[in-house]
Amino acid sequence: MSEYVIAIDQGTTSTRAIVFDKAGSVVSTGQLEHTQRLPKPGWVEHDATEIWKNTREVIGQALSRADITRHNIAAVGITNQRETTVVWDKNTGEPVYNAIVWQDTRTQSIVDALAADGGVDRFKEVVGLPLTTYFSGTKIKWILDNVDGARERAEAGDLLFGNTDAWVLWNLTGGTDGGVHVTDVTNASRTLFMDLETLDWRDDILEVFGVPRSMLPEIKSSSEVYGQVESSSLLREVPIAGILGDQQAATFGQAAFAKGESKNTYGTGNFLIFQTGEEIVRSKNGLLTTVGYRLGDAKPHYALEGAIAVTGSLVQWLRDNLGIISSAPEIEQLAASVDDNGGAYFVPAFSGLFAPYWRSDARGALVGLTRFVTKAHIARAVLEATAFQTREVLDAVNADSGVDLSELKVDGGMTANDLLMQFQADILGVPVVRPVVAETTALGAAYAAGLAVGFWSNLDELRANWQEDKRWEPQLDASGRERQLRLWKKAVTKTFDWVD
Ligand code: G3P
Repeated sequence: MSEYVIAIDQGTTSTRAIVFDKAGSVVSTGQLEHTQRLPKPGWVEHDATEIWKNTREVIGQALSRADITRHNIAAVGITNQRETTVVWDKNTGEPVYNAIVWQDTRTQSIVDALAADGGVDRFKEVVGLPLTTYFSGTKIKWILDNVDGARERAEAGDLLFGNTDAWVLWNLTGGTDGGVHVTDVTNASRTLFMDLETLDWRDDILEVFGVPRSMLPEIKSSSEVYGQVESSSLLREVPIAGILGDQQAATFGQAAFAKGESKNTYGTGNFLIFQTGEEIVRSKNGLLTTVGYRLGDAKPHYALEGAIAVTGSLVQWLRDNLGIISSAPEIEQLAASVDDNGGAYFVPAFSGLFAPYWRSDARGALVGLTRFVTKAHIARAVLEATAFQTREVLDAVNADSGVDLSELKVDGGMTANDLLMQFQADILGVPVVRPVVAETTALGAAYAAGLAVGFWSNLDELRANWQEDKRWEPQLDASGRERQLRLWKKAVTKTFDWVD
């Protein structure tokens, strides 16, 4: 009897495997962090081989902690850090270069060259995205242009591209021995190469980028059987039946399936996704248009997304680069030791600014300093930066959709921070609501996989699993809120035009 589904969450800082039961509760977890390689300013890399090794190990951890075997598992779901680009040789299984992470800004000159003809929005109508360093397309081009022999090998049909979902899937299904080279629509919608209407790669765009189509995975839905796990794995012969990019997965895990439903995830960055149903809505306010999910042959569901590059990673930076705190949770206590930010505003434009600005020329700034400011005020400014950025994204969602969101469903690591969540509600002016199962990303991938194999029968069953854990009501008056927001926006303008 298979009473569980396992999800692999290949994230930016760690890889996890989580076993879920039918109620959507966590049964056990395996987790390993991987090395963050920062070879130059703006460059961020991962070792894809380390990621695959960790994936195998965390599966073992999760199974043994629950004291179960593959026979208890009905299906595997995969969710992943999106856009992060792996290019590997299909004959050897070896990556030709480190994975270039979504936060990496090295491809700015490629962006500029492509934008010289038609501007940064030249493909936006078709793919829903502006030309920026964020998406996979320019990262693939960089590898083909800069790794010795890569272009020739790609043109000969020897190289494969994938985000980490496709990399994990290919290895999990046998790698050089019959690995399945597939991605799902949500990941494909983050490359700059997929037509949102046909859900197929665009040859004309591939030609502009000089990327051979043979490198690209086949695009499938988010919920269907892609293949079975290979025979040397602890999950041997279990069907892999769901793939969703991590932000779309969290939305699915929050049971936010219908038009008008949304969630905001507080991870390394923050990502607010707003479902627009079967309609493709083109943003006029700096949001991305992306695929929300597609279940088998059913029609795709689209979404608007407000992506913020740096939120949780700013807390890590405070810990690792400045040493002001020794663990991430410590920030709450430090920030709570003062009443306010003491006039300090921290705009973490470490990868330029994403939504709603899309300013790749921006770099981080800490402004409003006087001798009064202490590390506690800075800790507070760090937390507030997450809330202010989210407010600006929510304003864009409200403007694009024409309806004001009446509350915000949240998830992710930073939602454990009470001070931040209260400030978030204060600065939004609407309640912030967290579900009981905070592992919504992995849960979403488990749901997609479980639906495909009949472990769950429909979306209503998943909706019934959602339960509220905590709600923060706004306490700040409107004038206090608007004053803070005005100062924040002024601080943002100080980050522009920093790249020469
Ligand atoms: O677009 C990047 C996003 O998918 C990364 O998410 O949670 O791994 O930081 P996370």
